[in-house]
Amino acid sequence: MDLSQVKDISQVRAERRPFPVHVLDGMESAACFFCAGFLGRNDAIYVHDAGIRDVLAVDHNPEKMALMEPLYPGWTFVRGDAYGVRASLDRKFDIVIADPQQDQMDRALVDLPIWQNLANKVLLLGVNNGEEPMALGAAEVMERTTGSWWAVFPQST
Ligand SMILES: C[S@@+](CC[C@H](N)C(=O)[O-])C[C@H]1O[C@@H](n2cnc3c(N)ncnc32)[C@H](O)[C@@H]1O
Repeated sequence: MDLSQVKDISQVRAERRPFPVHVLDGMESAACFFCAGFLGRNDAIYVHDAGIRDVLAVDHNPEKMALMEPLYPGWTFVRGDAYGVRASLDRKFDIVIADPQQDQMDRALVDLPIWQNLANKVLLLGVNNGEEPMALGAAEVMERTTGSWWAVFPQST
């Protein structure tokens, strides 16, 4: 996908990657950290298509954020360091999705309690193995590409 040629969200939808769609059931707000790498083909497209309107999207790549923002009208886009933005937030979201690149996936699990603290209902983390998340309390994992999984952490109420 030539990102600079993407003018319509249907082009992102055509490139979707595996995602545990059921985790979006009943969600009214979402935060997508590390959102912009492929304009949302891993996660944001599913949040969009689930009809969630209260969405925060965070990435530090200004060029990709500029391409992504028109595709997701009504969302709040914050350009900056995900860890800094995360620390500055004074609200929670029904679902928090963090999709770091491979070299930051170890940190995703180290930071698990911090991510969980932002989520009312579900935390969805991109991780680099399927076993450690289950040992840490994930309800399920889904392999999406070779070497990367989604790990679903439901929040206890
Ligand atoms: C795996 S890609 C995300 C793909 C995205 N979820 C999608 O579906 O298009 C990882 C993203 O993390 C962003 N990134 C890496 N380090 C970051 C940081 N410290 N703060 C914010 N964004 C960061 C990169 O710019 C890249 O867009």
